[in-house]
Amino acid sequence: MPTSPQTPFNILYFSAEIVPYARTGGLAQVAGSLPRALRQLGDDIRVILPRYGHIDPQALGFRRIIDTFAVPFENETETAGLWQAPDADLPIYFIEHERLFGSRQGIYSYPDDAERFIFYCRASLEAMRHLQWQPHILHTNEWQTAIIANWLRSIYADDPLYRETAVVYTIHNLSYQGIFGHRVLEVAGLASQGFIAHPDVSPSLNQVVSLMGRGIIFADIITTVSPTYAREILTPDFGEGLDPILRDRQHRLFGILNGIDTALYDPATDTTIPATYDADDLAARSQCKSMLQAEMGLKVAAEVPVISLSSRLHEHKGYDILMPVLEPLLQHIDAQWVIMGVGDQRYHDHLNYLHERYPRRLALRLTYADDLRRRIISGSDIFLMPSRHEPCGLDQLIAMRYGAVPVVHATGGLADTVLDHNPPATGSGFSFRPYDSMALFAAVVRAVTLYRQPAIWHQIQQSAMRQDVSWTQPAQQYHQLYRRAYSLKNTGRPA
Ligand code: GLC
Repeated sequence: MPTSPQTPFNILYFSAEIVPYARTGGLAQVAGSLPRALRQLGDDIRVILPRYGHIDPQALGFRRIIDTFAVPFENETETAGLWQAPDADLPIYFIEHERLFGSRQGIYSYPDDAERFIFYCRASLEAMRHLQWQPHILHTNEWQTAIIANWLRSIYADDPLYRETAVVYTIHNLSYQGIFGHRVLEVAGLASQGFIAHPDVSPSLNQVVSLMGRGIIFADIITTVSPTYAREILTPDFGEGLDPILRDRQHRLFGILNGIDTALYDPATDTTIPATYDADDLAARSQCKSMLQAEMGLKVAAEVPVISLSSRLHEHKGYDILMPVLEPLLQHIDAQWVIMGVGDQRYHDHLNYLHERYPRRLALRLTYADDLRRRIISGSDIFLMPSRHEPCGLDQLIAMRYGAVPVVHATGGLADTVLDHNPPATGSGFSFRPYDSMALFAAVVRAVTLYRQPAIWHQIQQSAMRQDVSWTQPAQQYHQLYRRAYSLKNTGRPA
């Protein structure tokens, strides 16, 4: 295998989700676009995931590329198959297993999720033998694929196919760690290794298996999705109990911002919005706004700012600090609100109550749909994203590209991507801290006040729209980190 940084690498990208085939969150968008950007830099990167029951291989034109192959699993041997999607510019493989995946419609939340994802990981590694394709890098994501780093340092350590292969492990959100009991080790063939105790980790976490913890301990390189989040997770406030392990592995931890697919999310060509526009000519944007106001049953009025939110209705997305001030904001600020999302019942109830009281000021869509999200973003003036924690966040990037000025809590990727408007320098949005209702209230007032100064507002909008939110730079960084990981694994030194 090559060691020169110029040589193309073979990279297998493990993700439980990818657009358009399987999606619940940001990971699906990243998996659908980062590998494509990396292929443009010359590496042969391929994606692999399970064939969930809702994915119909015949209808989607999948090709069966391995009929059946053997997979060691729980001291026995199971049989899997391999499909490939018809995508021309990115090989996407799907592991076939009827009982664990094919017979289930959903992606997660089955009682045997640990078994399911461990099987998918093991089958993926075995499938490459049959394709005779040797990866330099296994790029693993989230708890579902974290066991792979552990295996490459144990049962696969001397395997000729994987001896030199390095593992990159990406944390998208530390709050979902994949915590299971001892049995998961038996399933993974690692029972003899037992629990891994760390002196500074709380006893309760030392007596369970945190799959994410293992990914962090055994990967050659660990990444997360923004530089600020990479620093935050080293502290007890953000570390979810794993901060002592992360501090030990700090020298291997890197924060790389996500990008978005700028061809897919482009207000100049987007056919799902009422009118197209770009940073040089924003005139048509007013049509998007009036259409949105009409669609939402709000008064069609150019001068009234439209403030939108589109996220899960969860406490950690900032609903806990928004709710106490939403009614005062509706009463005292001349603005219209559009809120889309699904989540906790208490927020549904509270929002419904407010909508009944202020039907001309607050429109609700308690649902999630990508087209609707684009219409909302292209038609609103201000996009609010007050997340308590946000590893990266993608919606603020889409909002910026579409000229909806973001108002964000300065945390994680929100802090790294939204440049607070701080005259005389023009920002690309507004950010606030600390994380509380008053700071949020003040930031919204600040944004609405500047909205009433069209010349300045226009500049803020343009600087948001012109910010580079593409994958170009992040892909370069991953490209280099792959070389570093490979070199660390094989020479003990960074490339
Ligand atoms: C997770 C994070 C989000 C990030 C996304 C993609 O959903 O919570 O901040 O943007 O992963 O990395």
